[in-house]
Amino acid sequence: MPSKVAIVAGTRPEIIKTSPLIKELESRGADYFLIYTGQHYNYEMEKVFFEQLSLPTPRYNLGIRSSAPFLQGEHTGRMLIDIEKIILDEKPGIVLTQGDTNSTLAGSLTTRKLATTAPFTNINVMLGHVEAGLRSYDRTMPEEANRIIADHLSDFLFAPTQRAADNMLKEGIHRSRISVTGNTIVDALNDAVKTSSRNEILDKLGLDRGYVLATFHRQENADVREKFSNVMGAFGRVHNKFGKPVVYPVHPRSRKLMERFDIVPPEGVVLIDPIGFMEFLKLEQEASLILTDSGGVQEESCVLRVPCVTLRENTERPETIDVGANILAGTDPDKIVECADIMMERKRNWENPFGDGKSSKKIVDIILR
Ligand code: UD1
Ligand code: UDP
Repeated sequence: MPSKVAIVAGTRPEIIKTSPLIKELESRGADYFLIYTGQHYNYEMEKVFFEQLSLPTPRYNLGIRSSAPFLQGEHTGRMLIDIEKIILDEKPGIVLTQGDTNSTLAGSLTTRKLATTAPFTNINVMLGHVEAGLRSYDRTMPEEANRIIADHLSDFLFAPTQRAADNMLKEGIHRSRISVTGNTIVDALNDAVKTSSRNEILDKLGLDRGYVLATFHRQENADVREKFSNVMGAFGRVHNKFGKPVVYPVHPRSRKLMERFDIVPPEGVVLIDPIGFMEFLKLEQEASLILTDSGGVQEESCVLRVPCVTLRENTERPETIDVGANILAGTDPDKIVECADIMMERKRNWENPFGDGKSSKKIVDIILR
């Protein structure tokens, strides 16, 4: 009988991307539980996803919020302490972390450390990292440190693509630890498109199909006044050039910074609160173009065949560029408008590089074996 599985998650994208794993474990009657760190906590950043994805309430919700986004050590440290207690108590055979957040780092580090304490604790725990091997090679991003550490600590590495697997091989990680499984986001999208007929969101916002959808929240972008105001100006120029509204569901981090920087949206830029996954998926599907600095949104636009302009100088998802779904613009307004022009014309006939929607099945097969 397979041993107990613990899943660690704490943010919007982790809830979405672990949801197919949770469903797969449930459907096999596996012994598993979820530790939710509480990194994201507003209703529209947390609970709405548990509701829409029909996920069970986490066995543990640690309620650990970041008191200030720059206090990364305090944030991660409090998670380490609480996750350690749970692992000691529950004694799972494997802990799974996903992605590249502080919750990923804390779950990975605690597990690895505990795995060395067997003589005292009788803990025999392994570590698996889902969405392993992504690299932006940009050391200014907190996510890059988190994903490198998680990969190097893990016993099982679930790479979404061969390219991600190759990144890890180049760093000396042994091939026996790596499996190419695709990305669980494809599983989540396949499931969600069956139920997502929520045209209400378009009606509610008074939108016709073909608008531009935008998101912007990354620390290295949104925290810099000049970049944020440049990008907001570029959104206004995209509206003027194409005569389409630019709809921007604003992440709480960005909302706070907009207020601090006194950034006022130009005409044609429609700011809304963050929305549920089903509504966001609908907004992605009906958009003519997506402007984003999100990792997950780059993947989704690629899978859904909606052209994407990435508001960053680099990406850890280069597969999206290789297939022609995405282009890097950075935060320079001229470049953003130029790239929007290119991508508006892009033929939507590229292949999805992120797998066949059976990633969670492959991952669960491996860990239960
Ligand atoms: C985190 C991840 C980032 C991921 C993003 C997904 C890290 C280092 N960063 O960034 O990789 O892309 O989640 O969205 O783990 N806040 C709220 N309500 C919430 C959540 C956040 O008000 O529900 C505010 C708080 O002021 C908080 C700030 O946003 O201090 C930043 O939140 P934090 O979780 O530290 O980072 P994110 O920017 O969300
Ligand atoms: N998303 C959502 N509502 C929103 C914005 C995004 O449901 O208002 C979803 C989106 O579909 C994707 C995920 O959130 O699955 C991306 O999260 P985010 O951009 O916060 O994080 P990243 O992927 O950059 O780590």
